[in-house]
Amino acid sequence: MSFYLTTPIYYVNAEPHLGHAYTSIVTDVVCRYQRMLGEEVWLQTGTDEHGDKVVQAAKAAGMSPREYTDKISALFRETWPLLDIEADFFIRTTDQRHVEVVQRILTKVYEQGDIYFSEYSGLYCQGCERFLTEKELVEGKCPDHLVEPTQVSEKNYFFRMSKYQDWLIDHIQKHPEFITPERYRNEVLSFLKEPLEDLCISRPVSRLTWGIPLPFDPGFVTYVWFDALINYLSGIGYPDEPQFYKFWPAAEHLIAKDILKPHAVYWPTMLRSMGVEPFRKLHVHGYWRVNETKMSKSIGNVVHPQDLVQEYGSDAVRYFLLREMTFGLDASFGTETLKARKNSDLANDLGNLLSRSLTMLEKFSDGCIPAPGPLSEQDKELKAAALAMMAEYRTHMDAFAFNRALQAVWEVISRANKYIVTNAPWELAKNPAAAETLATVLYCLFEVLRLVVVTLVPIMPAAAKKMQGLLGLTGAVDFHRAAQWGLFKPGTAIGKPIALFPRMGEKEGKRVTAGVSDPVPPGSRLS
Ligand code: MSP
Repeated sequence: MSFYLTTPIYYVNAEPHLGHAYTSIVTDVVCRYQRMLGEEVWLQTGTDEHGDKVVQAAKAAGMSPREYTDKISALFRETWPLLDIEADFFIRTTDQRHVEVVQRILTKVYEQGDIYFSEYSGLYCQGCERFLTEKELVEGKCPDHLVEPTQVSEKNYFFRMSKYQDWLIDHIQKHPEFITPERYRNEVLSFLKEPLEDLCISRPVSRLTWGIPLPFDPGFVTYVWFDALINYLSGIGYPDEPQFYKFWPAAEHLIAKDILKPHAVYWPTMLRSMGVEPFRKLHVHGYWRVNETKMSKSIGNVVHPQDLVQEYGSDAVRYFLLREMTFGLDASFGTETLKARKNSDLANDLGNLLSRSLTMLEKFSDGCIPAPGPLSEQDKELKAAALAMMAEYRTHMDAFAFNRALQAVWEVISRANKYIVTNAPWELAKNPAAAETLATVLYCLFEVLRLVVVTLVPIMPAAAKKMQGLLGLTGAVDFHRAAQWGLFKPGTAIGKPIALFPRMGEKEGKRVTAGVSDPVPPGSRLS
């Protein structure tokens, strides 16, 4: 079966930050998880490069839009591997193939009468790159950019979105999982209770040239959403490449709540108009705030993923972000909590379980997995807990409840640590009559470790790979096969003890302050 998951394509007027990193990490985790389940996966990400804001940012940097977009797009592309995010395709809206697909779709929709020319007058927010309704304003200002929108009146092209309103409501009602979590589905349904307006999809070239020209009127370029959303199709070879047929029926999008409306309303109606099946699911997450404050360039608290990786390592960053945020809700980021989690969950709980187990195996079993005897009640309990963890993990991962999946894994890790203490293998080793019990205890411990490693493959790919190496496990993990008890063959040689997750000291982790007073050093970023 196929599985296609996308990140939003990020605007190139800002450098990659924590928010972009979170979405891209979740996308990568889900794709790795699906691969482990045996699916054929396509992960697509990229950059959104047209529009007023990009022209302004390029000007401010003293570059042409082309030079500027090349530079920032490359910065995004280079950042993701640092976080072990592996994309199958990185799309840019300035790619020739994308431009052609957008024009082809525009022609189709225009020819069938769903695009018309009309005068429009409204309140335009430069930051949002769209007209706002009176209702959206807070004290006369755009709630996102805190500036008063300007009254703009001009002739433009419009997409007949209103025509598809009833169809969209019906589709959302018939497919409860189309928009998840449910709070966002409800938000969209309540928005759709009001009559839907048509969507302005162009800008005159007198005002903006950095865009895709409308194929039916060279005096206009495409407005940002009719360009950007189409990346999800152009990247997989719409309309006739095999990739498109393979992956489109399995398309799922991952976004934050800021771009819910374009994805939940504009996009499905656009697809309907062009005669393409709707995507399968839209997954919506909340916002990361930094120390309880909105992350913003002007406040100076923007957290850059490159700095985090340098300071804490990719595995810890990925683990932390997934463990701390309840998917769908907002969360607060702080480097103190990140450090604390790294020390307690990774160094203490997981790191200790691993290094103690490796040390004991080396000492008491020549570094090889022993043949177990019959399981005692305690062994059976540990085994049952580990198998239950695998089932729970699947349920939670399928539901994007990453924090709960990790909680389930960490419960078993601490149970296994307690199991070591209660069984005291070092005592058993003193008594030759207890040799079989000792072998069984060690066997059970390594089975638990093996199962824990399976769960961590999507979450912490680098650490999981090292752990797999230590446990003598090679090749890609097949979850269905690996999630069973008793797969370790007695006699398997295991690696030497190592400290995979060293504790961070008092002074470490201070460089990434995520605060106002002590700005983040530029590092490899664009400064
Ligand atoms: N270019 C559009 C998307 C077009 S998709 C067809 C865009 N770009 S963006 O650079 O502004 O990225 C927005 C996305 O970045 C959010 O939907 C989310 O994925 C991520 N985040 C940006 N800030 C965020 C937080 N503070 N917290 C969590 N995610 C955030 O919109």
